[in-house]
Formats: sequence, structure tokens, C-alpha cells
Amino acid sequence: MFQAQVFTLYPEVFPGPLAKGLYGKALSDKLWNLSVINIRDSATDKHKTVDDTPYGGGTGMLLKADVLAKSLDKKVKKGERVFYLTPKGKKFDQKLAQDLSKEKSISLICGHFEGVDERVLTTRNIEEISIGDYVLSGGEAAALVVLDSILRLLPGVLGNDKSSVDETFENGLLEYPQYTKPQIWEEKSVPDVLLSGDHNKIKDWRLSQSEAITRDRRPDLWQKYKKN
Ligand code: ADE
Repeated sequence: MFQAQVFTLYPEVFPGPLAKGLYGKALSDKLWNLSVINIRDSATDKHKTVDDTPYGGGTGMLLKADVLAKSLDKKVKKGERVFYLTPKGKKFDQKLAQDLSKEKSISLICGHFEGVDERVLTTRNIEEISIGDYVLSGGEAAALVVLDSILRLLPGVLGNDKSSVDETFENGLLEYPQYTKPQIWEEKSVPDVLLSGDHNKIKDWRLSQSEAITRDRRPDLWQKYKKN
């Protein structure tokens, strides 16, 4: 079973969307499990303080090293990869999602305020990851994104094991357009090739559509694809 652990100041956010649909079923089928840890439970003073002002000045507050470390040290297993969600982290991508789907367990730390004391990141060997070049108010939404992308790769979760393989990014291209019934809708027909029954032709058409879309929308992915 894949075990995820989330450290947060807002435990009520979880499991949120991850308890719905196939992920909810996979959760009750014990294909994965989530523990949610409230960082505030490790605060040591009577006010349950978790943050403080930065040395050297500046705006905002930082998550305290002692509180976060205490929370982590109680729960993180030896050798487990621990991630801190932050816009200054390494970019999270499909490759990392695949790697993490093969781990037994991972831990995710959701930040708030302006960040965390650097010392806890270095002493606890924490990897910093970002889900994209924009700033969220906290790491919770990012942790849900990371977990969502991992869960669909776990064996048995999607039912059809192939449906996680064919899609956008797995081959370095964006996905081709798809159509379902009715065959004609608002006077627009489905592309003829998809009705031909010729699987090789359909495969070729889909690849050329994927290539055209990727070239147009994501020159960065297109350059990488062409090199391989
Ligand atoms: N926390 C705030 N912004 C974030 C981002 N872009 N990625 C991950 N965690 C974040």
C-alpha cells in the first residue's frame, strides 16, 4: 500500500477531492492511505505558536524550525523522502510523479506564511518542490496536486492500467483531440479517420495531431521531443 503523509496547519483540507471517485474507492480498497498531521500539535507553548518573525527583518512570518522538526521527527520513517511545497522548489513533473509512485511512502509539508526556517530543510534532508511558476497562499492545494498525479499511477487505482500510459506527457507530447457520441453534434461531425476502423491510420492521425498541438502550444516540450 502506498502511504502518504501530509504535514499541515489546515488538516481539514484533506483528503478533500482525493476521497472522491476512483481515488475514494482505492482508499477504501487500501491501495493507498493518507495520514494528516497537524503541525500545530507540536507547538510547545500555551499559545500553540508555530511561526515567528525572520531574522534580518522583512515582511511575513516563518514556520519555526523547532515546531516543524518535532512534528516530522515523530512521524517520518527512516529513508522516507520528504518534500516541502514551495514556489522556490524544483519543478514537479510527470517524471517525479512516476518515481514517487514507486515509493512505499512519502511525506509532504504544506507551508504557510513566508516560508520555513532554512535549518529544518537542511538538517532533515527535505526536498523543495514547486508545482508551477505562480504563488499560492499555502502548500495544501499543491500537495493535493502532487498526490493526485501520483495516485493515478498506482497499480489498480484507475482500473484500466493502460489509461494512465497513453496520455499527455507520458510520450513527451500533449494529448490528441478525442470525440464521443453523437457522431454529429451541432452540425459538426467526428473526424472521418476515427470512423474508419483502420487502427494504424488512427494511430498515425493521433500522433500527428499530438505533434501539431505540442508544436503550437508548448515549444519547450516540442524541442525536447524532436531531440529524442
Ligand atoms: N506554495 C505556494 N506556492 C506554491 C507552488 N507554486 N508550488 C508548490 N507549493 C507552493
